[in-house]
Amino acid sequence: MIWLVGNKGMLGREMEALLRRRRLDYTATDREVSILDPAALSRHAAGKRIDWIINCAGYTVVDGAEDEEDLATAVNADGAGRLAELAGELDAGLIHVSTDYVFDGTKAEPYREDDATNPLGAYGRSKLKGEEIIRASGCRHVIVRTSWLYGTAGPSFVHTMLRLMNERDAVDVVDDQIGSPTYTRDLTEALLAFIEKGGAMSGVYHYSDEGRISWYDFAREIFRAGREAGLVSRPCRIYPIATAAYPARARRPAFSPLSTEKIRKTLDLAIPLWDHSLRRFLSEDFRRWNETYTTC
Ligand SMILES: NC(=O)c1ccc[n+]([C@@H]2O[C@H](COP(=O)([O-])OP(=O)(O)OC[C@H]3O[C@@H](n4cnc5c(N)ncnc54)[C@H](OP(=O)(O)O)[C@@H]3O)[C@@H](O)[C@H]2O)c1
Repeated sequence: MIWLVGNKGMLGREMEALLRRRRLDYTATDREVSILDPAALSRHAAGKRIDWIINCAGYTVVDGAEDEEDLATAVNADGAGRLAELAGELDAGLIHVSTDYVFDGTKAEPYREDDATNPLGAYGRSKLKGEEIIRASGCRHVIVRTSWLYGTAGPSFVHTMLRLMNERDAVDVVDDQIGSPTYTRDLTEALLAFIEKGGAMSGVYHYSDEGRISWYDFAREIFRAGREAGLVSRPCRIYPIATAAYPARARRPAFSPLSTEKIRKTLDLAIPLWDHSLRRFLSEDFRRWNETYTTC
């Protein structure tokens, strides 16, 4: 059986929806079985035959982590370590999700799995520590770094943009951070592929949807596709601004596209283009999921 940890977050909800669609045997938990509580974790595992743990839980407030680094580290590093320990005891594999924010963004080409890490902020540091603890634990593991997630459950940049575009005449969006938007539905298919393809693939992998853009370009496409899907009801101008003009608590990498060559080859995976996935999300999945979302 699969144990999905963090099933109430944005990625976790999507993962659970996929496990259900595939009719797989699973158990799912979130905060009610805290990954900070080894006894609670062991109690939940007792009597179950856990083959895989998929960890979608985390402390994910990038700016908040600057003020709460201890908490971010407890969840993203120590909590992940507890799951790794448990996976070892249960002889289960651990699939863990990490981030492009472990890099400093000074490279000119997409980051490969073995490139040097150098997080710029507390969130990235806590996620990197989590990776190190998992590796040191000796458990069978796959660490998948991903980037710029959005998904049906939200909240995400896409949700925020749709809301602002329906409220305001203009929005300013940073144009000097480049990355790869990733639809959670695409990522969950890749995570599950590690299990379905046999699981002898320990190590670090990068997954993002194909293509690289700035947040500003992303916002422009959200506007276009949102209008087409009937999710944006009025005109809205979008202006590019520099990161320096948008003060945020945490520094973010200016360039964080991830090379997906390794995961594509290992899993024989076809990765969709980011704009195809965005259109699919807005035209099909978003409205279905957000039944209460009011459109024009
Ligand atoms: N979002 C992105 O753009 C992005 C980009 C790259 C990588 N990632 C990684 O992808 C993973 C999933 O991200 P997400 O955006 O889905 O995050 P999310 O929506 O914040 O979901 C995380 C879930 O973990 C839960 N959680 C927090 N502390 C816990 C604990 N001690 N025990 C058990 N559950 C706990 C959260 O509960 P509460 O909501 O109550 O705190 C939430 O339900 C994370 O590892 C994140 O670092 C995300």
